[in-house]
Amino acid sequence: MKHPFIVGKNIYLRGLEKSDLEGDYFQWLNDQDVTKYMDSGNFPNTIENMEEFYRNTVLRGNNVIFAIVDLESDKHIGNIKLGPINWISRISPVGIMIGDKAYWGKNYGTESMELVLNYAFNKLNLHKITLGVVANHDAATKAYEKAGFKLEGKAKSQFYLDGKYCDTLYMAILRDEFMSRVE
Ligand SMILES: CC(C)(COP(=O)(O)OP(=O)(O)OC[C@H]1O[C@@H](n2cnc3c(N)ncnc32)[C@H](O)[C@@H]1OP(=O)(O)O)[C@@H](O)C(=O)NCCC(=O)NCCS
Repeated sequence: MKHPFIVGKNIYLRGLEKSDLEGDYFQWLNDQDVTKYMDSGNFPNTIENMEEFYRNTVLRGNNVIFAIVDLESDKHIGNIKLGPINWISRISPVGIMIGDKAYWGKNYGTESMELVLNYAFNKLNLHKITLGVVANHDAATKAYEKAGFKLEGKAKSQFYLDGKYCDTLYMAILRDEFMSRVE
């Protein structure tokens, strides 16, 4: 393990480091399978874009961004981001990308989400975590449900994908709901 911050069963989370920008992470953002349901990926990735994201998002106090690392191989396989955190309402959106496709469907997304929820509620004392997901992104929706997220609403015709508009689902989990799951 290198610089672990939160250690789980199959993965650990550490701070995203500047050197990660030069690794596999770069090409995840050019991979149309990975970015299919994300706002990223519409334009070719550049190191300048990534450095700007690093400066303006990773290093800013209202965001916490973790690299997701496979415990067994020590390989950086994705990122998970809390933020921008609203410190008054104690609410934050969360976003996740398992960029290494070999790790899809093996519970890594769910485990990452559970570790971040525990951190958000028990370390940062947040009250609610929210997310948006394209309605037909079944793997993501299932992973979020497994981690305890519940559907709060649906925005119609919100995301343009493969020539047509899709709905976006808004899901959330409250601190009390999370605590009653882990007790
Ligand atoms: C979405 C994502 C985070 C999910 O992480 P993951 O590690 O692949 O998901 P998990 O293995 O924890 O859970 C996925 C579940 O959906 C199931 N699943 C996978 N593909 C599916 C599909 N096409 N239809 C229905 N269920 C599917 C899996 O079998 C698993 O359920 P199970 O544990 O009951 O078998 C990950 O695939 C990813 O990062 N994708 C690219 C970026 C992205 O889309 N980010 C999210 C934007 S909202």
